[in-house]
Amino acid sequence: MGQQRLIDGDPAYLREVQYGDGEKLAARIELHERFSRNPVGWHPFLFDLLGLAPGQTVLDVGCGKATVWTKHARAIPEGTKLWLTDFSEGMLDSARDEATMRGVVAQFRVMDAQQLSFPDQSVDVLLAAHMLYHVPDRDAAIAEFRRVLRPGGLAIVATNGKQHLHELFDLVRRFHPDFELDAGATEAFGLENGAEQLSRAFDEVERVDYEDGLDVTDASALVRYIESMDLPADAVAQMDDYVRQRIEQNGVFSISKQAGVFRCK
Ligand SMILES: C[S@@+](CC[C@H](N)C(=O)[O-])C[C@H]1O[C@@H](n2cnc3c(N)ncnc32)[C@H](O)[C@@H]1O
Repeated sequence: MGQQRLIDGDPAYLREVQYGDGEKLAARIELHERFSRNPVGWHPFLFDLLGLAPGQTVLDVGCGKATVWTKHARAIPEGTKLWLTDFSEGMLDSARDEATMRGVVAQFRVMDAQQLSFPDQSVDVLLAAHMLYHVPDRDAAIAEFRRVLRPGGLAIVATNGKQHLHELFDLVRRFHPDFELDAGATEAFGLENGAEQLSRAFDEVERVDYEDGLDVTDASALVRYIESMDLPADAVAQMDDYVRQRIEQNGVFSISKQAGVFRCK
């Protein structure tokens, strides 16, 4: 099944199906944006941590739809040289469209995290958000992050913890018992084991958690998220019925979140 190939190193599936364009990612971002409890918001939290200053070279690895940038188009300091990169050409097209629409000035490059086409010590701030768990050779990618950063540069690496969306994944497993995505992703690179992996290349690694949860009141939005995981149609139909009933009865479907970042120097 598709979702098992998310974390076991099937780059073609990731590049062409799951992240072939921005559509599936959009359904996930929509759920978080509409129903998250923390009023700060994940993207403002992430953007603040980058601590950007004018004139810096900034590299986003696995940029997806460039959401953190399109949401902060006006706050990007003057003279920032922003590089948005992703290994999916379709995803990068989506990033380019969104960025152009919001007036974000950037360079776009198809690039694999395991081999960054940047000179040594050429980047001031690097962002790798919710992407390292997809990378087959994480040590190589992390070494690349270190290599391209200038001395004193900052890498912000975001991921999830084991409790992230566990009620949603329990629901999926109830109707589709083979489901493995959540455990696999956080086992590969999660809040619990990410610091150890990053410390092989970085001297300082600090974990910063983002407290949050979801109170979902619109069944359709949750079903769109479930559909983005490439599950069998009959299982999705059963989950659709179940979610609608739960929200009709209780008014809400609450889901835990556990996300955060590592600040690496
Ligand atoms: C969950 S999305 C996160 C996107 C974005 N960073 C965000 O936080 O919204 C993961 C992204 O990583 C990209 N990706 C996966 N493996 C990659 C690799 N080896 N090199 C570069 N990008 C990769 C995918 O194409 C996808 O856009």
